[in-house]
Amino acid sequence: MPKVTIDGVEIEVPKGTTILQAARMIGKHVAPPAMCYYSKLDVSGGYCRTCIVRVTKGSAANPNPMPKPVASCRTEVMDGMVVENFTSEQVLADRKGVVEFLLLNHPLDCPVCDQAGECSLQDLGYENGAEKTRYDFERRTFEKIDIGPKIQLHMTRCILCYRCVHTADQLTEKRVHGVLNRGEVSEISTYIAANIDNELSGNVIDVCPVGALTDKTFRFKSRVWFTKPVDAHRDCKKCAGKVRLWFKGEEVLRVTGRKDQWGEVIDWICNECRFDRKNLSDWIVEGPSRIDPHSVISQNQYELAKLKLDTGEQLKKIKEKK
Ligand code: SF4
Ligand code: FES
Repeated sequence: MPKVTIDGVEIEVPKGTTILQAARMIGKHVAPPAMCYYSKLDVSGGYCRTCIVRVTKGSAANPNPMPKPVASCRTEVMDGMVVENFTSEQVLADRKGVVEFLLLNHPLDCPVCDQAGECSLQDLGYENGAEKTRYDFERRTFEKIDIGPKIQLHMTRCILCYRCVHTADQLTEKRVHGVLNRGEVSEISTYIAANIDNELSGNVIDVCPVGALTDKTFRFKSRVWFTKPVDAHRDCKKCAGKVRLWFKGEEVLRVTGRKDQWGEVIDWICNECRFDRKNLSDWIVEGPSRIDPHSVISQNQYELAKLKLDTGEQLKKIKEKK
């Protein structure tokens, strides 16, 4: 099995592992940010360039460095490879440039965007971005596209990561969606509206790293840091039924898939669970969700005992099952 060293930490990984996957195996302190790669998708990555790293030694057989930064989500580990991520000033400067490009046309509407507080671009900009834009030109705008009663598309916020395209591709039967045009005028096409009827279409909301695809049933209801996420499940015939409920008081404001430490959905959920099951009685509550301590959502520390929810019956059922 090939061995790779990333930011001074050596790890042995299965053949075919990418640098990004190897870095994630080591841990968050060496893992590059990823705006388009998504491990739950069969195809993803290679678009955003936020995951760039420097390969200072190609392999034991060929120790030459790679001449340019490489996308770690698309570059396989070679035995003896040495990689620099956070330890390289050059990588940090290059990533700053990538973030500047991603933000060129992105509107500054975080104060009214539902994704604020759980937006990967917001985090990326905070950690790697510049304080000011140097862009003097008019930002790109689009005609509004209505993609149905449940999902809101804000094309101006889209960073063209293709995650929603690949998600729809993977979860629906026919490929009737995509990105139209190229370069500055590229856009998620109206074809995506054709997928919105699919039972699993709501998952595009969860994979979108920015606020380009949001849940209309949650729109403008609350800032996310005022809500309390709780893991819950139900018997569902269409999906795993394992979700995250976002409470405000006793009201379920929205239902999403559960996400792992990389911010990726663990199990796809169906539209019925997501949009039509917003009563506490629909769910068996398991307890407060694990939230990254760096997330603004975790500012809202809470314990199940302190949640003003009538979960007594559900907890009894869980104990009985055990
Ligand atoms: S709508 Fe969201 S998920 Fe789809 S390409 Fe744009 S940023 Fe990515
Ligand atoms: S995460 Fe690697 S190019 Fe986007």
